[in-house]
Order: sequence, then C-alpha cells, then structure tokens
Amino acid sequence: TSESISDLLDRLSKIVPDYPQPGISFKDLTPVFADPVGLRRMVDELIAPFEGQFDIVAGLEARGFVLAAAAAYASGKGMLTIRKAGKLPREVYRDEYTLEYGTSCLEVHKDEIAPGTRVLILDDVLATGGTVGSSVRLIEKTGAVVAGVGVVLELDGLDGRGKLEGHRVHSLQVVH
Ligand code: PRP
Repeated sequence: TSESISDLLDRLSKIVPDYPQPGISFKDLTPVFADPVGLRRMVDELIAPFEGQFDIVAGLEARGFVLAAAAAYASGKGMLTIRKAGKLPREVYRDEYTLEYGTSCLEVHKDEIAPGTRVLILDDVLATGGTVGSSVRLIEKTGAVVAGVGVVLELDGLDGRGKLEGHRVHSLQVVH
C-alpha cells in the first residue's frame, strides 16, 4: 500500500468535538481497531522499529490491551497485563501517579516476568505520559527492562516524552 500510516489514521479515525470535556477534540481510534487493514497496519507499524529487541509486549488497560494482544500474537510473544488498581488477583507491584486532578494507580503481578526480560510497552495515546511513566516504573520494579514504548497517537504540548527520558518512544502520529 502507498497510503502512509498517518493518512490511514486520519481516514479511519473519527474526531469527536467536546469529548470528554467541552473544548477538547477527541480522536477516536475504535474505527481503526474495527477495520481489518487498519488494525493490521497500526500493529505492524508499532512493532516494526523494535523487531528482535523485545521478549514480551505490555498492554496498558484498557485500550492498550487491544494493541498489545495483537502485537504479541503477531510477533510470536506473550502479553504482560498492566491493570488499574484492584483488578489483578495475585501479589502485585503498585505505582501511583498524578493526574490533572487527583491520582491513579496501576499494578502488575510480581511474578509474571523474569528479571532481564525485555518489555515493549504499547498504548493507544501518550498524553501527559503519566500512564506510560507509571508502567515503566512497574516493569523496572520486577527487574525486567523496558525495550521501548510504542503509541498510536502522541499529543503534542503535554511533554509526555519528557517523562520517559532514556527510553525510545515511537509514535505513529503526533496530534496537535
Ligand atoms: C488514556 C489512554 C492512555 C492514557 C494517556 O487512558 O488510553 O492510557 O489515558 O494519558 P496520559 O499520558 O496523560 O497518562 P484512560 O485513563 O482514559 O483509560 P482507558 O484506556 O481504560 O479508557
């Protein structure tokens, strides 16, 4: 195909004005997930730069699960489940992080990955970087290593990348 990934995302995604708050334009990726070519292209482009450099794919609840499961399957790897607080049934590492208003908490099972495992983190959107930053800390707590971060959309102006210094961040599209 000659269509760029950025053109594909623009063609298939839907802009929702005033969502989730007045004045915010939300780029909805669910139509890209629903499209057979869209899903495949998105997942292939997310993992391509990290080929041969990761042992497992981490997905961040909830939209990151869609991408990570597909990426793990496509690359013959497993998927690491990073969830919001209280959802995982066994012993967890927990990381609290700050949101615009209040705090949020992510967890990972303590014994899911061996030390030294190279983890590729995938999520749909990098905004403030709070979510991915928290996931990086969780993965490092297990003794595993972050191989890189892949996101579909990177929101400009929130300095999400600034929170991920020292890590390779690959985004398919920067959104202004
Ligand atoms: C959204 C998005 C990212 C995160 C990005 O998830 O899917 O995970 O926010 O924002 P940040 O860079 O400022 O942390 P949300 O918390 O809406 O959860 P959901 O995927 O479960 O709906």
